[in-house]
Amino acid sequence: MLTRQKEKEYSNDFFKNEIKRLRRELNAVILVHFYQEPEIQDLADYIGDSLQLSQEAAKTDAEVIVFAGVHFMAETAKILNPAKKVLLPDLDAGCSLAEGCPAHLLEKFKEKYPGYVVVTYINSTAEVKAISDYICTSSNAEKIVKSLPADTGIIFAPDRNLGKYLIKKTGRDMVLWQGSCIVHETFSERKIIKLKLENPDALLIAHPECEETILDKSDFIGSTSALLKFVVNNSANKFIVATEPGIINQMKKKASGKIFIEAPPETGCSCNECPYMRLNTLEKLYKCMKDGKPEINIDEELRINALLPIQRMLDLS
Ligand code: 13P
Ligand code: SF4
Repeated sequence: MLTRQKEKEYSNDFFKNEIKRLRRELNAVILVHFYQEPEIQDLADYIGDSLQLSQEAAKTDAEVIVFAGVHFMAETAKILNPAKKVLLPDLDAGCSLAEGCPAHLLEKFKEKYPGYVVVTYINSTAEVKAISDYICTSSNAEKIVKSLPADTGIIFAPDRNLGKYLIKKTGRDMVLWQGSCIVHETFSERKIIKLKLENPDALLIAHPECEETILDKSDFIGSTSALLKFVVNNSANKFIVATEPGIINQMKKKASGKIFIEAPPETGCSCNECPYMRLNTLEKLYKCMKDGKPEINIDEELRINALLPIQRMLDLS
């Protein structure tokens, strides 16, 4: 009789082998975000942050793009590659930022600020991108904002924490949509202070989607890829990591021997793990490649309108 653990290992081996076979058969590329489960990260043709993944999607010559990430990422890949098949293992893999900013409400918000330029975080729907002037990610947001003439009024949507951080960094006149990431707003300031006192040799590193009180205490702030680069290059040996803990798998690989402590949420829950990202599993990845669905499709007029601000971002990056 097989134990449950052994059964899981056998089925995981089956899924991994089938995924590799299907990748060859379909001429597919598997793009994976850092917040995915380690077993999915290990299957990536390319692993990266939102900007790197859209850059990869823009230049791939594979016929099928399998996106192990969330909906807005796969949708961006489809906007950039209308002729390619884009698969997402679970269509419910959304994002609280994208869900909290419906296009019709952003349209109303825009009416209050005539003449303002709309800079929108990539964590948004195609409909929202289509009514934006520039898209940005956490890697290039500062650069995009600074590229605009100094007297430009800016609407920044949907993440208020990244927006506040950008105002501090650039001193620009920005009005903010009041959206937030349910994962990055979960970290406990009280517990982080305690961790810092217990580990005086540890540096606190944080994603700019975290709240201001956490960012103010951080030794380094950056996108997922910037955080990864920082732990590799910095001489410190211990880091408290205030972002989704999926990235710690890559940190351990690239900076082996260093110690990484997950920034804790206020309660004992695992709400520091993105519930959307974690909907993807090896089994769903295998099934979507086998069945050719769920597939991302997008209306052509909407695609063209959403492409323009994405292209502006890619040109500036
Ligand atoms: P990055 O662009 O830094 O990978 O961030 C994506 C994201 O969804 C963070 O929560
Ligand atoms: Fe969205 Fe937050 Fe999940 Fe990133 S971590 S995909 S911002 S809900």
